[in-house]
Amino acid sequence: MSLHDLLATVGGFTVSFCLLRLLWKCWCLYSEFILSEHWQVDLRTYGKWAVVTGATSGIGKAYAEELARRGLDVVLVSRSDLKLQRVAKEIENKFGRKTRIIQADFAEGDSIYPAIADALRDLEIGILGNGTMCFRTYTKDRRITQVLNCNMMSVTQMTRLVLPDMVARKTGLIINLSSITGVRPQPLLSLYSATKAFVIFFSRCLQAEYKSKGVTIQCVAPSLVSTNMTHNIKVNCCVKSASAFAREALNTVGQSSYTNGCLSHALQNVALALFLPDWLRLSTYFEKRQWKRRGCQETCSAYFKYE
Ligand SMILES: NC(=O)c1ccc[n+]([C@@H]2O[C@H](COP(=O)([O-])OP(=O)(O)OC[C@H]3O[C@@H](n4cnc5c(N)ncnc54)[C@H](OP(=O)(O)O)[C@@H]3O)[C@@H](O)[C@H]2O)c1
Repeated sequence: MSLHDLLATVGGFTVSFCLLRLLWKCWCLYSEFILSEHWQVDLRTYGKWAVVTGATSGIGKAYAEELARRGLDVVLVSRSDLKLQRVAKEIENKFGRKTRIIQADFAEGDSIYPAIADALRDLEIGILGNGTMCFRTYTKDRRITQVLNCNMMSVTQMTRLVLPDMVARKTGLIINLSSITGVRPQPLLSLYSATKAFVIFFSRCLQAEYKSKGVTIQCVAPSLVSTNMTHNIKVNCCVKSASAFAREALNTVGQSSYTNGCLSHALQNVALALFLPDWLRLSTYFEKRQWKRRGCQETCSAYFKYE
């Protein structure tokens, strides 16, 4: 075989490999986000109750409502008792499902979990949705601990509470909300971004450990969703409403254990990797521009600031 033939063969294989990979990616996107509209897992098969943390607003509340709409009774967990009662009433009236509420402040750390375990004891928990979020904390000197407690400890401890029973019943679903900032490091959101990366690794490792035992651990890494956290930013083709996002993301259950939750966010993830790769986003030039654009005052105090 001449050198020319050899190069042509290698080139042919490479192009075929790239085309096949592209086709495979397109098929995955199609089945994850389009086929799933028509072909959904019956979420009631996981168990009677769903537990949702961060259930009084934004994505958590939207998940709680969508789960109730799909026939599950819902336990709502959040910090504010008043908001919990209001959301529980709304769900009962709108979907005719049972609700329970658990008031808990995840920023407090370890001490709250025995009470949550007690409140969940007699329930068949089929689904756990971890949607608590905090980056604006209220105690200045414990800011870092509180963010870690809310964004990482809550996911780990809530998982610990429900997992053994799911394993015993050989079925269950745990949905952990990460973020696109956990997929790609995000300067100026350092602490938040790092906690979200933790959620991805934790979920993917657990999924590998528990899928053979009948339990699915799904990690959802959205881009922008219009909620309190994002100052209720206007919904458009890139920014989803919380309810549309929860509906589409729940459709991906059974299709994918690691997802951006909706087609628009999956495409944004690809575009980000292509047009704003990590080496550029993490460069000093880009970081300086970001500081200027956002104004370091607000951003730093909101997400990460040593004083
Ligand atoms: N919105 C986005 O664009 C976006 C993008 C990517 C990922 N995410 C992720 O999606 C999840 C939900 O975010 P969101 O935008 O829906 O936020 P959100 O609208 O601000 O809702 C946050 C929820 O967490 C609860 N919460 C906050 N601090 C708490 C604490 N210390 N203890 C107990 N509950 C607490 C709040 O309850 P109270 O009101 O009772 O405090 C509220 O129900 C988060 O994990 C976030 O990182 C969001």
